[in-house]
Amino acid sequence: MEKIVIVTGGAGYIGSHTVVELFLAGYTPIIIDDFRNSKPWILDRITQIVGKEITAHTVDCQNELAFNEVLSTYKAIYGIIHFAADKAVGESVNQPIKYYQNNIGSLCVVLNALKKFDIKNFVFSSSCTVYGETLTPVVTEESPIMPPASPYGDTKIIGERIIQNYWKTTSDAKVMLLRYFNPIGAHPSALIGELPQGIPNNLMPYITQTAKGKRDSLTVFGGDYHTPDGTAIRDYIHVSDLAIAHVKALTYLEKSSTKLFDYLNIGSGKGTSVLELIKTFEEVNHLKLNYQIGNRRPGDVEQIFANADKAKKIIDWTCKFSLKDALLHAWEWEKSLTT
Ligand code: UD1
Repeated sequence: MEKIVIVTGGAGYIGSHTVVELFLAGYTPIIIDDFRNSKPWILDRITQIVGKEITAHTVDCQNELAFNEVLSTYKAIYGIIHFAADKAVGESVNQPIKYYQNNIGSLCVVLNALKKFDIKNFVFSSSCTVYGETLTPVVTEESPIMPPASPYGDTKIIGERIIQNYWKTTSDAKVMLLRYFNPIGAHPSALIGELPQGIPNNLMPYITQTAKGKRDSLTVFGGDYHTPDGTAIRDYIHVSDLAIAHVKALTYLEKSSTKLFDYLNIGSGKGTSVLELIKTFEEVNHLKLNYQIGNRRPGDVEQIFANADKAKKIIDWTCKFSLKDALLHAWEWEKSLTT
């Protein structure tokens, strides 16, 4: 029997890569996306990669009636992977209600649907942002959840709690929360990748757009951190590795005969500074970036990277792509874009 998996935000950056990996692993992904942060042509690109058209519904997940109407057209739904959310940290500070309304509102619609349609398996897109200003640079799943640095971060902390409270009321729900570190790169085919709207907030698309000449120069936010080269340290992972983690999480849930609630760090386990990332990008792609050191960005933590041992142990997941692969693929993707 085919295993239908609803992927909310399935046309987005991480969602589209996950749809590809789900399909390759034998699942039937169904996309629900309102394209607020993607473009419909991404669907054609997914088709080019997997050789089959993937069904997609243009629906805002906050619209409970429309969401349920889509789900009611499928006989048995195997699981939901919920990506649909806003994710720009800075914007969330200026427009907090937009973030609470969309990120929490959509999540509640999805959780109601799990119950209504008796869907057992659920994977949630969480973030290392839940660890906030960390006590140690390397975090395990047992590291304390700290006060959020932004409303975006708060939606992830609250979201995790809402899911846990929902789960407690069920007799057989199986839930995995994935706390991502910093996804970068693009599919090795360069057919799908990140599509930032306007000026990118995140480092990787800012680097590739600067390399392409779309931005004049990159500002490194802070050169006076207590790190070896003074710049902030993050844990960058290839987006396809992150996508595979979702498939493995789903397969793990499937194998469990009892209800289950767990959370996993999804990171490489290696810290890389902003300057190291820039230098490696220049080296692997044989180019020079125009950049300068500027002020720290408010809300940024100094350094954070994953202890991802639990993901290795529980779902047998580790990164297959290197940092260099991710930087090569990010550049290939940027070059393929016409705008
Ligand atoms: C943030 C969130 C993360 C979220 C991600 C999604 C926090 C602590 N982290 O990651 O949970 O999943 O956004 O958008 O809330 N940088 C520059 N110049 C730039 C842009 C960035 O130097 O032009 C630096 C930043 O200061 C940071 C690093 O690059 O040190 C990575 O930044 P970014 O890509 O924005 O991701 P995070 O802020 O780590």
